[in-house]
Amino acid sequence: MHDKALALFDLKDRVAIVTGGAKGIGRGIAENLALAGARVVVADRDAAENVACAQSITDAGGRAQAITCNMSSESDIAALVESTLAAFGQLDIVVNNAAIYPMSPIADMTTELWDEVLGINLRGVFLLTRAAMRSLKQAGENGRLINISSIDTWKSYVGMGHYDASKGGMEAFTRSCALELAEFGVTANVIAPGAVKTPGSETVRGNLARERGDPNTDAVDAEFATRIPLGAWANADDIGQATMLLATPAAHYITGQTIYVDGGLKLTM
Ligand SMILES: NC(=O)c1ccc[n+]([C@@H]2O[C@H](COP(=O)([O-])OP(=O)(O)OC[C@H]3O[C@@H](n4cnc5c(N)ncnc54)[C@H](O)[C@@H]3O)[C@@H](O)[C@H]2O)c1
Repeated sequence: MHDKALALFDLKDRVAIVTGGAKGIGRGIAENLALAGARVVVADRDAAENVACAQSITDAGGRAQAITCNMSSESDIAALVESTLAAFGQLDIVVNNAAIYPMSPIADMTTELWDEVLGINLRGVFLLTRAAMRSLKQAGENGRLINISSIDTWKSYVGMGHYDASKGGMEAFTRSCALELAEFGVTANVIAPGAVKTPGSETVRGNLARERGDPNTDAVDAEFATRIPLGAWANADDIGQATMLLATPAAHYITGQTIYVDGGLKLTM
């Protein structure tokens, strides 16, 4: 009986790609998929951190490989999928996590910045999903597309117009993927994190603290945590564990959904 329950959460025969997997939330996702037994391809443009992440998973007894990939490059993305298939012979789980979020008010936003953000956060998601379609369909009921969006699609912040557009587009795109993949038994879902402490959010948190004239980021963080019903910022593992759950056989009937992993923050916004 207990073995049956464990099998529902076992990813031992799966192969996963996690974009932006070297740091922050992506690293939490890569580590948790590996924890459940998946072979994980860590795909990040930061080559050194990418190798370090794959090595640390391997050192901990998991199976991981680093492939450097810039999600704004169509040729990098094609090579990522080809190298994954060459190394492992299959690709079952794709996690589109890589994104950038440089703040800029719309009036000051350059066309180049808009294109850069949309290029990585939305076009990159399309390119990898398209490149992985054949493999996902072959994976059948083991196939999973999991896209990392943001609570920003529920409530916007000033300076995030490009980012919010990219994440809103990603959510709509994911629902289209869910429809196209359903006949193969493949699911496609979005995870929308709330407030997560990562290297990327560190910069945003620092900016917010400065804007409020309070150089003490910790105090600003603590004040923000009081708005979160569960009382704390998320860490990368919190998002990694939710992603792992969606990837497991137990989640085979969940598709086309946006799941907020936010400690209840959406309830107070
Ligand atoms: N941190 C938060 O509070 C928060 C909240 C909601 C949603 N998110 C989402 O979670 C995801 C991860 O965010 P994070 O805070 O961990 O970010 P981060 O900046 O800490 O880490 C992002 C990782 O992606 C990589 N990356 C960036 N651009 C890339 C590219 N073009 N190609 C390949 N790799 C690239 C970086 O090298 C880095 O390793 C993003 O999709 C973000 O929108 C984060």
